[in-house]
Amino acid sequence: MLIDRFGRAIEYLRLSVTDRCDLRCAYCIPEGFKGFEEPAHWLTFAEIERLLSVFARMGLKRVRLTGGEPLLRRHVDELARRIAQIPGIEDLSLSTNATQLAGMAERLKAAGVTRLNVSLDSLDPDTVKRINGRPVLDDILSGLAAARAAGFAPIKLNMVVMRDNAHEVDAMVEFCLAHGYVLRLIELMPMGDTARRMGYVDLQPIKRALQTRFGLVDTVMPGGGPARYLGTPDGRFTVGFITPLSQHFCATCNRVRLTVDGQLHLCLGQDARVDFRSLLREGASDQALVEAMHQALALKPERHEFVERPEKLIRFMNMTGG
Ligand code: GTP
Ligand code: 5AD
Ligand code: SF4
Repeated sequence: MLIDRFGRAIEYLRLSVTDRCDLRCAYCIPEGFKGFEEPAHWLTFAEIERLLSVFARMGLKRVRLTGGEPLLRRHVDELARRIAQIPGIEDLSLSTNATQLAGMAERLKAAGVTRLNVSLDSLDPDTVKRINGRPVLDDILSGLAAARAAGFAPIKLNMVVMRDNAHEVDAMVEFCLAHGYVLRLIELMPMGDTARRMGYVDLQPIKRALQTRFGLVDTVMPGGGPARYLGTPDGRFTVGFITPLSQHFCATCNRVRLTVDGQLHLCLGQDARVDFRSLLREGASDQALVEAMHQALALKPERHEFVERPEKLIRFMNMTGG
């Protein structure tokens, strides 16, 4: 029922539960960023639950919690529990920087989160400090270990490949092989000056090199996102490629994004959005929300323009969590 004007079925909502973050990844948050919105503008758990229940009746099947850093939202496990119970939601996942994961992994699992994606751009403490702004490698590694112990599987590691860490892809492959994580290599998207300065790296040559070295074949992984996966024939190692610039995937887009202040964004790379917070707070009926969603889908752009207009500032990544 959630079909846009290009025939794409929308079944996946990326829900940003806070724009705050304890890191300062240079490709994500603008320098000197202090403009966090006041919590009064944030959707309450009840508002989120109601809106997602309406969307689920229209065909939404997957929800991913993002941020900023979603584990900084107070009682996020309680929110997860409420979303997991919504009829129709089959897949509840979370993308995190893992700095706070060690203390939360078990509670998230118990709440019904089924899959975790963890950002990790380097295994070198100095590179992590440089790229991610804080010396947090040990916290992330503890978080990953806790997630494994809590039974999350698969655990995907998101590595944004850029000038500073491109030489570390092999080390990350070894690490994922040794620990059974799925590696995902992501092309840097030009979200603002800070991201553009990090040095874009085309993933196609890296993909070909890994393919030859490990004899990789096409494979599939649970998930709703844009990654294309390759794996060793014995299934011991899987790597996903997220290539918005070198091989964009907009024709198969199945997702929309809801920010913490209730704006439904129709594309990561475009401005089109609809204000659901106002509707919710003006007392809109379920039917009015359904109609607003249909109107929103009519605004969903065909594709991003990261290649044609890299200088066009859309918004910073911490608003939507990617
Ligand atoms: P799975 O359900 O495991 O497939 O998760 P996912 O890949 O959808 O989620 P995750 O939060 O791990 O995102 C990984 C990367 O994909 C991030 O850098 C996102 O910004 C990027 N990404 C996800 N959806 C889109 C999209 O629609 N367009 C673009 N350009 N990038 C996207
Ligand atoms: N380009 C590509 N990926 C990005 N992320 C954040 N900013 C960017 C960017 N400019 C990634 C994070 C995280 C995921 C949700 O989005 O590293 O893994
Ligand atoms: Fe924080 Fe994630 Fe943005 Fe890094 S990419 S600053 S961890 S929200």
